[in-house]
Amino acid sequence: MTTRQRVTGQFRGGISPLLAVDRKAAKPLHRQIYDVFRAKIVAGDLRAGQQIPSTRELASELRISRIPVLNAYAQLLAEGYFEARVGAGTFVSSSLPDRPIACGNGVSPATHTSARPRRIAARAMALPHYERSPWMNGSGAFSVGQPALDAFPFRAWSNLIARYSRSLQVSALHYGNPMGLEDLREAITGYLRTARAVRCEPHQIMIVSGSQQALDVSARVLLDPGASVWLEEPGYWLVRDILTSAGCRLVPVPVDAEGLDVAAAIKLCRKARAAYVAPSHQYPLGVTMSASRRLQLIDWARRAGAWIVEDDYDSEYRYQSMPVASLQGLDHHSRVIYIGTFSKVLFPSLRLGYIVIPPGLVERFIAVRHSMDICPSHLHQAVLAEFIRQGHFSRHLRRMRLLYSERRNVLADSIREEFGSSLEVFGGEAGMHMVVMLPDGLDDKEIAVRAAQKNLWLWPLSPSYIAKDRRQGFILGFGNATSAEIPEAVRRLKSVMRSQS
Ligand SMILES: Cc1ncc(COP(=O)(O)O)c(C=O)c1O
Repeated sequence: MTTRQRVTGQFRGGISPLLAVDRKAAKPLHRQIYDVFRAKIVAGDLRAGQQIPSTRELASELRISRIPVLNAYAQLLAEGYFEARVGAGTFVSSSLPDRPIACGNGVSPATHTSARPRRIAARAMALPHYERSPWMNGSGAFSVGQPALDAFPFRAWSNLIARYSRSLQVSALHYGNPMGLEDLREAITGYLRTARAVRCEPHQIMIVSGSQQALDVSARVLLDPGASVWLEEPGYWLVRDILTSAGCRLVPVPVDAEGLDVAAAIKLCRKARAAYVAPSHQYPLGVTMSASRRLQLIDWARRAGAWIVEDDYDSEYRYQSMPVASLQGLDHHSRVIYIGTFSKVLFPSLRLGYIVIPPGLVERFIAVRHSMDICPSHLHQAVLAEFIRQGHFSRHLRRMRLLYSERRNVLADSIREEFGSSLEVFGGEAGMHMVVMLPDGLDDKEIAVRAAQKNLWLWPLSPSYIAKDRRQGFILGFGNATSAEIPEAVRRLKSVMRSQS
């Protein structure tokens, strides 16, 4: 990227600022234009180096003659607010500070806080403050939720993107079906029936932008404010945000070696409206829900008239046995909403996932989804459908299963070598992470913060709990760390733990 491109960024070509002129006003047109540009530069709405539309473009947009625009630009150039670059156009002067120039009380409008509180919705206030924790800032050992991005079949994927971009039909530019592209829904149906024992037809599949949107749409369809929902404890923290902003009451339910403890959940809150579970590979402990718990859960849902949201986020990868069949496939009462994602099997920025909607609820899901974002974006859906159809998807899954199995073995061996039996290890049978529990007296967050300063990405376990009683440990992702890197990363883990104790 050249210096000039960096300075002008995406504004190359000069976007017109919001600017209205009043022909009947006493103030001359050139002065009105000058005042708007000057005020926007001072307020920081137009930044140093940003391109300004040409006088011809602006005059045409404002439907006035070019003369007042030329006069206003001449004044702004003379005063140093604008600079002209030969052959490139007019820009906000790059010698100005690249942040708002203090105005009046020295506070820019974007940071102004009024003395009177401004009321916003309770559901927005209920969410915790958004911040990226230090351990989320990197990739490699032991970042969680990151697939082996270096092993992604970029060539096949980018060839398909290029082909589809070149041959995009005009019809693909319109709003699409709120359920998503037919071809992709058929491809997903075939995959789910065969590989995950999900009972579904294409008309039940809704394409969404990942599990997070799937959970949001489902909560809006199924849950009223005040509804109680069972959640696995420890569990997936992002589902909490959805339910909290939906005004639901969270009921943390302990997870043991068989998964969510259904009997304990019934004791805690029999009348819950829904249960959120990841039965194939519980997050974060990695437990697979036993057959008897699955049947108990379905039985409870049937009797209570409740819903089960099944999050099947990474169960494609199992190392010592065949992938376990879905909970949805066992349900004969249409009580399970099955959610899947391509974030782990392909890559997370793709933002594509799906919901398998129980028969009879499809129309309500469509109504809610349509009110939220109308329909999914077209291009990546079409590319993904073809990627699956041409066999790249299943090939990639097979390759990744072998790769992750090797990385997982190296991690388990390295932990054993460095720590012996002093660290309890959980959940390495599937997925792309395992959990180690820390001996008493160690604080997982404190260690994680210090490790992040040394570029070691340890995800603490304790934030996965809702209740105060939390175990300390680490969720160790091995998806995006090579087998050569892992032993050294485990040695570094040992050294940060030692300096803490
Ligand atoms: C339990 C669980 N579900 C779902 C996801 C994926 O979410 P998304 O599809 O929104 O990327 C993750 C990601 O880490 C997860 O841990």
